[in-house]
Amino acid sequence: MQSVKLDLEADNLSYTFEDGTEALKGVSFALGKGETISVMGPNGAGKSTLLWLLMGALKGFSGAVNICGSNLKELSGVGLYKTINLVFQNPENQIFCDTVENEINFAPDNLGMDAETSGKNLEELAAALGISTLLKKEPQHLSFGQKKRVALASVLVIKPEIILLDEPSSNLDFLSKEKLVAAVNQFKGSKIIVTQDIGFALSVSARLIYMNGGAICYDGPFKSDDFKLKCPGLFHEIIKLREMIAGI
Ligand SMILES: Nc1ncnc2c1ncn2[C@@H]1O[C@H](COP(=O)(O)OP(=O)(O)OP(=O)(O)O)[C@@H](O)[C@H]1O
Ligand SMILES: [Mg+2]
Repeated sequence: MQSVKLDLEADNLSYTFEDGTEALKGVSFALGKGETISVMGPNGAGKSTLLWLLMGALKGFSGAVNICGSNLKELSGVGLYKTINLVFQNPENQIFCDTVENEINFAPDNLGMDAETSGKNLEELAAALGISTLLKKEPQHLSFGQKKRVALASVLVIKPEIILLDEPSSNLDFLSKEKLVAAVNQFKGSKIIVTQDIGFALSVSARLIYMNGGAICYDGPFKSDDFKLKCPGLFHEIIKLREMIAGI
């Protein structure tokens, strides 16, 4: 039997916040090298908590995470940063530099990337995400959708092995969303993408993890009898989308 190369293995992850909220309950899955998974589910299902745990920000969880052959608990600092990196649900919690350009250059500068390479990467990413005209601006003056694209660029520029994106398409206009889909599909590393946007999920991934109440209820393709049975709401949303498009 041929073995599949894995970038990440999550084994029986549970996490309880200090106030007693059990946000994750026995979550297990594996992410293949170069694979993209969309994670969907209702508000409060534990999707963001799962991403925070996977990027090493939550201590005291039970279970185990293996990332690119290392135990998450043994990864730290630059090694962790270059291996797995998260784009936050709220860009205002991520952006802290005085200009957009400095924000995107922050990690390359600190990782000692040479100026020519990082300048080229910055230019390409800014063009791909439609933020080239914003580079000299103060991030606090940007619109929310613009901030989201800057936060994404500041992580993509590091080229980590795995990126975790928390609702990247929310607040984006139609053209910006198209650019986001192209940029996400162009990134060849592995991706876990939390989204409420079924159209976006279908544009970037073939596999869905559906969460509810801190647990995984479904893990598989968007099209299967099991999907219909375990994610009836999402299944009907896809049917409605199809009917709407057919009616145009
Ligand atoms: N710091 C915290 N302290 C206590 N409870 C928290 C904390 N952060 C999140 N929670 C709770 O954990 C549960 C999971 O929250 P989480 O943010 O992971 O949900 P989510 O699936 O990302 O929801 P959304 O779709 O609204 O972003 C919720 O019940 C939430 O209220
Ligand atoms: Mg969330």
